[in-house]
Parts: sequence; structure tokens; C-alpha cells
Amino acid sequence: IGKTIHYFEEISSTNDYAKKLAQNAFEDGEVIIAGTQKSGRGRFSREWISPPNKGIYISLLLKPQISFENITQLTLFTALAICNALEEYVGINLEIKWPNDILLNSKKICGILTEISGEVDKINHVIIGFGINVNFDKVDFDDTLKNKATSLKIETSKTQDRKKIIQHILTVFDKYYEDYLNGENFENILKQYKSKMTIIEKNIVISIHNNTPASGTVIDITNSGALKIKMSDGSVKEFLSGEISLNPI
Ligand code: BTN
Repeated sequence: IGKTIHYFEEISSTNDYAKKLAQNAFEDGEVIIAGTQKSGRGRFSREWISPPNKGIYISLLLKPQISFENITQLTLFTALAICNALEEYVGINLEIKWPNDILLNSKKICGILTEISGEVDKINHVIIGFGINVNFDKVDFDDTLKNKATSLKIETSKTQDRKKIIQHILTVFDKYYEDYLNGENFENILKQYKSKMTIIEKNIVISIHNNTPASGTVIDITNSGALKIKMSDGSVKEFLSGEISLNPI
């Protein structure tokens, strides 16, 4: 990972640039980093705010020999790798919100956007883009985000070195990625992932795309990374993607 790094002071979106690179020959593990993004994207077509030189905006362009059904596993261990790297480097305790938001003191500091292209049994490329709110100040968040998001600087009262954080994350990710491609047992990763998750046995609401949100109790994460929920009607369902929130009732 990161033998080739493309750096831009300003770009529309590092994920979009990775997509362009993927149209031609590319190496597994090319990295795109930006100082700021003009059209940073989040999941569900949301905007991802990217104030200049205050955050980490990065995409990994990968060519893993895995099938579509294993993509959720890939995104889960990415979240775990980032989480572990940040905890070690910054000396903080983080929480993962399934599938791949990372929270500090219950507020979001990192989001991951995975985009895949190819056929069911033959993946052409996977783009894993992540944004980390490193040195954001409170004014960088608009009113809707203020209560939900935070930054490392706000929480630790210290300006953090973005470059060093990136280096550490890439080193940690590299190890997870290599082990995974070498067929390391996913159960071990899952165990670590679950220990960072606080919603097991909690009542949650899950929304999938435009469907009406449903509520239930989280039972477990399956081996493929799906969230297993006992729905309020008693049935048990598995979700490979979606967005969850704690049920206030
Ligand atoms: C989310 O939580 O909704 C995912 C956010 C992903 C943001 C990153 S920043 C780098 C990369 N480029 C983008 O346009 N988005 C991702």
C-alpha cells in the first residue's frame, strides 16, 4: 500500500480521482491524498466537509482477489485498522459504529466510503475512501453536524500531525490487508471488531436506502460482517449495509 501516492492540494473528491485511475492500468494499493476536497462525498450521497489542511481525505485504490460477498469484511477490517492506528498514535479510546463509522466520545470523527466495480466473481477494483476530522475547529461543523461530529483536536485539545497519522494508518492497514489476502481467519478480526462495538444487545433503528426504518435488537455480527437483528416483530434478519441509530424508546 502506498508505493504510489498521488497528492493534490485541492481536488473534487479523492474517491472520484481513484475511479478515474481505475480506468487504466493501476497497482494494487495506489493512494490518493488531498489537502481539501471541493465535492467530498459521504455515504448516501451526502456531502463530506473537507476544510483545507485540517482533515485527512484519502482513498486507497485496491485490486483484491476476492468476491463481492467479502466486501463487507474488507470494510469492517478497514474500520478496525483505522481505529487501532488512531488509538495507538493519539492515545485515545474509540468506538466503531457498524458498519464503519468511528466515534470519539460518542461523536463521529471518521467515515469510510467504499465503492466497488466489477462482476460478482471478478472484482475490477475497490476504492476505500476515508475522511478523518483531525484538526477541525468547532466552527468547521455546521449546525446539523455540531452535535454528531467532532475532531481529534477538539477532543484532545492538541493539534495533531496529519502526515504521521496517515503513515501510521497505512502501515497498520497494510498488515491487515496482507493477512486478509493471505487467508487469515476472519473470526479473529471479527472478535476485535466486536470489542470496539457498543451496540450489541442494544435496541436500534436501521434504515436501508429509502425504505421505512425498522427497529430491533442487535444480536451479533455474522461471519460475512452482516448485522444480525431480532426485529420488533420477532423475526431475525441480517443486514449487509444500512445506517443505524440507537432507539431512544
Ligand atoms: C461517510 O461516513 O459517509 C463516509 C465519508 C467518506 C469521506 C471520504 S474523504 C476521502 C474520500 N473522498 C470522498 O469524496 N469521500 C471519501
